[in-house]
Amino acid sequence: MLILAVETSCDDSAAAVLSGPDLLGQSISSQGVHAAHGGVVPELASRMHLSTLPAVVARALEKSDLPSGIRPDCIAATAGPGLVGSLLVGLSWAKALAFASGCRFIAVNHLAAHLHVHYPSLTGDSFPAVALLVSGGHTGLFLMRDWQRIDLLGCTRDDAAGEAFDKCAKLLGLDYPGGPALDRLADSGDESAVALPSPLSDSNSPEFSFSGLKTAASLAHRSGVRPEDLAASFRRVVVDLLVSKTFSAARCVSAHSVVVAGGVAANSLLRADLRRASLDRGLGLYLPSMELATDNAEMVGRAALRLLEDD
Ligand code: KG4
Ligand code: ZN
Repeated sequence: MLILAVETSCDDSAAAVLSGPDLLGQSISSQGVHAAHGGVVPELASRMHLSTLPAVVARALEKSDLPSGIRPDCIAATAGPGLVGSLLVGLSWAKALAFASGCRFIAVNHLAAHLHVHYPSLTGDSFPAVALLVSGGHTGLFLMRDWQRIDLLGCTRDDAAGEAFDKCAKLLGLDYPGGPALDRLADSGDESAVALPSPLSDSNSPEFSFSGLKTAASLAHRSGVRPEDLAASFRRVVVDLLVSKTFSAARCVSAHSVVVAGGVAANSLLRADLRRASLDRGLGLYLPSMELATDNAEMVGRAALRLLEDD
C-alpha cells in the first residue's frame, strides 16, 4: 500500500510517502514568516501553504525514489481540527490530486494522526494504554483500549500546554515558536526560584488548566525575576501537572503503558520525567522521536493506513 500524505493544519506544510507503515520520503517547510508577529497569522499561513505545498509534495515524491509510472494507492490529508484556511488548502489540494490520479482519498483527524506516530508499534500487550496528547492546540488524556476504541478521559478547560509555553516564552522576549526556546532557557535557571500556582493540581482529575498559570507568570515577570528562573519554574509546574495526571489516569484504568504525542512531547524535562515515572511504575512508555512529536505528514500516512486496514 503506497500512501501520499499531506499535513497543513497550522504553519507547517508537510508531505510524506509511505509504503505500508514505512517512510520512503518526506519533506517539510516551516513558515518562518510568523516569527515577526509573535504567533501564527492564519491568513498568512493559508497563503504560504498555497504557494509551498506543490513543491513540498514534489520533494517528498522525489526523495521516495519511486520507479517511474508508479502512483500512490491512496492520498491522505489532515481534515481538522486546525486553522480553517490552512486545512482548506491542503485538503482541497490533496482531494483534487486524488481525483485527477484516480486514487482513493482519506481524510484524517489531526489528533488521531498525532497518536498514530505509534502505529503499528503500539500493539497487543501494551493495551490498555493511557495517551497524553499535548500540543500547541490541544492537551488531553485518552484511554486507548486498542486502535479502534479511543476515548477522551479529560482535556484542558482553557489553553493547551504548548500555547502556555509559547505565551510565557513571548513574555520573556523569546522567538516564536517559544516552546523549544523556553525549554533551552529553563536549563540554566532555578526551577524553585519563582513561586507559581499549580492549577487543577488534583492528580485524580484528568482535566487541565493553564490560563491562570500564564497570568501568574506575567505578574512574576513584571516583578523582575530572572528570565531563566521564570522559564525553569514555569516548565517545572507544567511538566509536574502533565506527568502526575497521566500516571494517575494510568493507575485508575490499570493501563499497561503510557503513550505520548504532540509537539510538547519534545520538551526535555517532560521526556526525562516520563521516562523516570514509567520505569518506577513498571509501565511501558511510547515517546515519539523529536521529529515525529511536532506536526508532520508521516503520522497522517500511518493514520490513513490504519483506517484502510480497518476497511
Ligand atoms: O503538535 P504541534 O507541532 O502543533 C499542534 O498541533 O499544535 O505542537 C506545537 C507546540 C508549540 O506550542 C510548541 O511551542 C510546542 O509544541 N513545543 C514545545 C517544545 N517543542 C515544541 N513546548 C515545550 N518544549 C519543547 N521543547
Ligand atoms: Zn499537531
